[in-house]
Amino acid sequence: MKITQAAIIGCGAIHRLHAEAIQQNSSIHLRAIVEANADSGLILAGRYGCSYYADYRELLQDQELDVVHICTPHDLHKEMIIATLAAGKHVFTEKPVALNCGEIKQIKAALAQSDARLGVCYQNRLNTSSQAIKSLLESGQLGKMLGIKALLTWSRTPDYYQQSGWRGRLSREGGSLLINQAIHTLDLMQWFAGGVSAVKGVTESTFLADATEGEDTAVANMMMTNGARGIFYATNGYTTDSPLLLEIHCEQGLLQLNDNNLWLIKEGEKQLLASDTLPVKKQKCYWGSSHQLAINQFYHAVQTPADTPVAANQYVDIHQAEKSLCLVEAIYRSSQLRRWIMLKEE
Ligand SMILES: NC(=O)c1ccc[n+]([C@@H]2O[C@H](COP(=O)([O-])OP(=O)(O)OC[C@H]3O[C@@H](n4cnc5c(N)ncnc54)[C@H](O)[C@@H]3O)[C@@H](O)[C@H]2O)c1
Repeated sequence: MKITQAAIIGCGAIHRLHAEAIQQNSSIHLRAIVEANADSGLILAGRYGCSYYADYRELLQDQELDVVHICTPHDLHKEMIIATLAAGKHVFTEKPVALNCGEIKQIKAALAQSDARLGVCYQNRLNTSSQAIKSLLESGQLGKMLGIKALLTWSRTPDYYQQSGWRGRLSREGGSLLINQAIHTLDLMQWFAGGVSAVKGVTESTFLADATEGEDTAVANMMMTNGARGIFYATNGYTTDSPLLLEIHCEQGLLQLNDNNLWLIKEGEKQLLASDTLPVKKQKCYWGSSHQLAINQFYHAVQTPADTPVAANQYVDIHQAEKSLCLVEAIYRSSQLRRWIMLKEE
């Protein structure tokens, strides 16, 4: 099999998980990196044994390159995705795919002109617990979903924003807690319930008001497409990064994700269904441990001959990624207008 040639643009905190996943997959070769900070870029290129570029537009002229990973600040995603697709290369981008839904339209237009694929990193869909929830819900064994709730209480310090050139700045991050951290939880909620029809939410600046221009806390009540009620609370203002608490109330039982363990509570009995493996110590636990799975899944699609249909659920594409970003945008809008916002069905 031909070795797929990969590059990473943006070599900050998250890029390491992309680099490790590429290096651990024998069908991929890390050919180049692009990093605005030349000092760290050159050191990293030496460590990976790959080429270094200061400007991603030069990288895109490399005829041998197949796939580009985008791990840059949010405001650079759209421009980099569109340029990479125009150069005929596949893109695997970190979330959020763009700053807002208007930018997604432009990306969709670029995709329509290209044969390349675009995958978006929502790695938590591949956690053992998420996969178990999804297949149990799809099997119908638990009957109708009545309610879904999530509680995300994480901790970000003022330094986390102040030491970054883009976090905490609305024009660069596109928001704060919702678009950066809680988007993973909103993505899971909408994925499990098959979408969201309407949302009423409130976003607020509280403990981190001096550190980020965006919200540090948000609540949202949602009408899910399957008729269930969605209840969501998230904050970056807690004192530690607690594991996500997620509960799904179905006619025939209650699913509870608590402390990374998935329980089924049915007729008074509590049964352990799945446990998520925690990342190795050097990796932040709240990122989850499924980056490698998401990256391998995307490469599997890329390496499949173009005339072989790839199942829609094989990676998170633009249509899937659009849902959680438009939900985030709807919560911001609802908070501004103080009313329910209806979400469009595709
Ligand atoms: N999936 C997850 O769980 C997860 C976790 C963390 C971050 N992320 C996402 O990853 C992306 C990056 O986040 P991060 O925490 O690594 O940020 P970061 O600030 O640590 O790293 C970004 C890097 O991009 C570089 N950069 C900026 N402009 C550039 C340019 N024009 N060309 C090349 N390099 C450039 C910066 O110098 C920096 O090294 C964001 O979209 C973020 O939301 C996802």
